[in-house]
Amino acid sequence: MNHPQAATDDRSGERVYRELMAGLQSGQKTINPKYFYDEAGSALFDQITSLPEYYPTRTETAILKNHAETIAMRVGRQRVVIEPGAGSCEKFRHLIPALQPSCYVPVDISTDYLAEAAAGLNESFPELQVEPVAADFSRTISLPGSVDCEAAVIFYPGSTIGNFEPADAVTFLQRMRTLVGSQGLILVGVDLHKDSAVLTAAYNDVAGVTAAFNRNILLHLNRLLGADFKPNLFQHHAFYNEQKRRIEMHLVSDVKQIVNCGDVSLQFAKGETIHTENSYKYSLQDFSSLVEKAGLKLEQSWTDRKNLFSVNLLSAAGCHR
Ligand code: AVI
Repeated sequence: MNHPQAATDDRSGERVYRELMAGLQSGQKTINPKYFYDEAGSALFDQITSLPEYYPTRTETAILKNHAETIAMRVGRQRVVIEPGAGSCEKFRHLIPALQPSCYVPVDISTDYLAEAAAGLNESFPELQVEPVAADFSRTISLPGSVDCEAAVIFYPGSTIGNFEPADAVTFLQRMRTLVGSQGLILVGVDLHKDSAVLTAAYNDVAGVTAAFNRNILLHLNRLLGADFKPNLFQHHAFYNEQKRRIEMHLVSDVKQIVNCGDVSLQFAKGETIHTENSYKYSLQDFSSLVEKAGLKLEQSWTDRKNLFSVNLLSAAGCHR
């Protein structure tokens, strides 16, 4: 799986506490979606990716498989490929035979998961040089000296970019551009704006997995904050905000209640929500404008026949920022 910034092992307790409490004590209570991904949350997310309603993963995979040769022609072979938040490295497998990278650098915060995924890749592709890097890509972008970042390709599938606020997505892309230099490329998966019924269904699956994923964040917070959230007193609520072109996920308090987080008591009115995630959906035109703000150019987009999802190639060539 690809996820924004998963797991808890790299975060100092103090910083985490401050970040979480600031969100929970603001007017609209919020939790950063990176806290979805404890062990249980990561497993639930893996289940989400194969739900019938959740089209992004299988659609992106089909795009990568169907267009691997054309993508390789545009990207060029024998390049270093860096994948932030690589997780299982599953999606990159589809590009390896066509792309023939000189080196693949999966970066993920979860050391064990990464080592396992890298070993699995080497088993399938013994010729491939794999240089796994255990780091939090949201904070660190310096890679070991053995990795030549200049003119590398950043592979960022999964539409994880949609979980950033647009301004933060621009900042992230700028950082990637700086990392790979003017000859570098970025290949990024982006979920597309579409009929709200399709989107709403994707985040409200009948089996209730997304609801469990949403509620699980409270169990994670109970451990991180020593809090006493009762997940069964919160309802999953996900809807498409047409104006902002984003899925919003919330947890709605069923009752008036108090939640204790260490010394701090949080009051919840009945019906009050905690905003847990935004998942922005873009038209290709909107995404192109966003990319330009980062000093990049949208070179080419590959989509499926129903225009549900896109894989986009960005370059810094010709941009002088
Ligand atoms: C990780 N990310 C791209 C997923 C998304 O669709 O925004 C997270 C997710 N949240 C609910 N379902 C999936």
